[in-house]
Amino acid sequence: MNIIHIIASSIQQAVPELNIEQISIRIEKPKYANHGDFAFPVFDLAKIRKQAPQAIASSLAGKIQDPWVMKTEAVGPYVNFFLQKEKVQKEIISNILAMGKDYGNLNIGKGENVVLDLSSPNIAKPFSMGHLRSTVIGTSIANILEKCGYQTVRINYLGDWGTQFGKLIVAYLKWGSAESVRENPIPELLKLYVKFHQEAADNPALDDEGRLWFKRLEDGNEDARSLWKWFREESLHEFQRIYDLLGIRFDSYNGEAFYNDKMDAIIERLKELELLTHSDGAEVVVLDESLSLPPCLIKKSDGATLYATRDLAAAFYRKAEYKFAKALYVVGQEQTIHFQQVKAVVAKMGESWAKDMHHIPFGLLLKDGKKMSTRKGKVILLEKVIQEAIELAERNIAAKNPQLPNKQEVAKQVGVGAIIFHDLKNYRLNSIEFSLGDMLKFEGETGPYVQYTHARASSILRKASWVNDGDITYSGLKDDYSWNLSKLLYAFPETIEKACAGFDPSIVAKYIVDVCQSFNSWYGHEKFLTEDEEKVARLSLVYATTLVIQESLSLLGMSAPDEM
Ligand code: ARG
Repeated sequence: MNIIHIIASSIQQAVPELNIEQISIRIEKPKYANHGDFAFPVFDLAKIRKQAPQAIASSLAGKIQDPWVMKTEAVGPYVNFFLQKEKVQKEIISNILAMGKDYGNLNIGKGENVVLDLSSPNIAKPFSMGHLRSTVIGTSIANILEKCGYQTVRINYLGDWGTQFGKLIVAYLKWGSAESVRENPIPELLKLYVKFHQEAADNPALDDEGRLWFKRLEDGNEDARSLWKWFREESLHEFQRIYDLLGIRFDSYNGEAFYNDKMDAIIERLKELELLTHSDGAEVVVLDESLSLPPCLIKKSDGATLYATRDLAAAFYRKAEYKFAKALYVVGQEQTIHFQQVKAVVAKMGESWAKDMHHIPFGLLLKDGKKMSTRKGKVILLEKVIQEAIELAERNIAAKNPQLPNKQEVAKQVGVGAIIFHDLKNYRLNSIEFSLGDMLKFEGETGPYVQYTHARASSILRKASWVNDGDITYSGLKDDYSWNLSKLLYAFPETIEKACAGFDPSIVAKYIVDVCQSFNSWYGHEKFLTEDEEKVARLSLVYATTLVIQESLSLLGMSAPDEM
């Protein structure tokens, strides 16, 4: 059943000038409930017919007859539609029940591949809040794309290459010890890195040494390689604990180092195409003035390659390997120019797929209004933060439901869910304030609120021993609360479509909050377990609600506990 199509057809019978498609795109949802369920504005029709809109609206309202439409009303230039609640609602609910987990599946992607570059923390440095945002936002976008019929390739493009590894090796050889790195890898490596920068401020020769060691690393020097490999393993091990807590998976961990032997081919190609220009001993690609971008640095004067060189090699590799329809880079907005440059170079090389590369930027996570930074040691260790969220969730749950059987597992789902939801409910370009207290509240637009609503609905079904046995011998319900909820559930597929088009999980997050609020107002006005002729319809709608909440939460990367 397609409600818009039904309404459009009923209109079309009285409006031969427009086809169904043209009518459909004009149909709106009125702001106020007393203006009906849908509205058709007649401005365009008035122009075509050269008549007053009001007159057209009232003559149309009188002509429309349809079994799905209870009544129509002309209000100014609008024809407002009031649907046959019970009939339409029954269709909505039974459709959701029949589709189950597949409800909302779309086939926009037609099985095409989308490559997502996400998370991508830097080896030997703490997992930053920015990387958390990339992980959470990127995972949700990937889930939404899959729901829309794309195949996704989730790539953790580790920052495991670059001059900083030369510096780190120097620092380790001068001041480090194997035991302390083994004991406490990331904080220890970070300490060495910070010390390097402090010392190098007075002693520029250190920087030269760092460059030298990176050159050795690039050339395959064994000492350099084995230290690098060890730092990488220790770091990955730490990161993996965070991914396990968050329930995140990747299809590939090919980071920057993976492209060390793939850059020469790109540089050769740039030469062949005569795109490389010498500039102070370095090699750059000058970009078209119309883009007002700085030249893209490809090779430094000492021959070392750069971040952009590796991203270029990675883009070509991914195109060849995955034949992507889109390549998304879920990376903070401070790297916007970098991605514009890389894309512009690919385009200059004559590759038509440059247009399929999209930087998906996001804003900062703030603590007390300030950016959380890793360089100056002002760093919050993410794993600790997640553990804290879980503990706080456990305390909240223990106070609310001391009898709950698997408290720890639920606390993990709620604590982690709170962090994820707090991030995703905001449009990604907004900066957000990281406040555990706020995100763990059970009221307001929070993860716990949504999960709690799901648990509440599940508990009704448990108490009623309800099973989805395909019984749809009911008619719909008569009250407005359940009707509003049903209309919202009906909007699930179109919500996903919008989220997919804008790479925007916040559309899904806001949608679930609406669904939960609507469910909770119905809940406050209804006795679900009363034995009457509406009971099956009621429980069916409760069940449909749990399905939609579960599916939405799983798109965000969250769990939906049955009890909490
Ligand atoms: N490791 C980088 C950083 O932490 C992010 C990498 C983003 N992805 C990319 N293809 N450049 O800033």
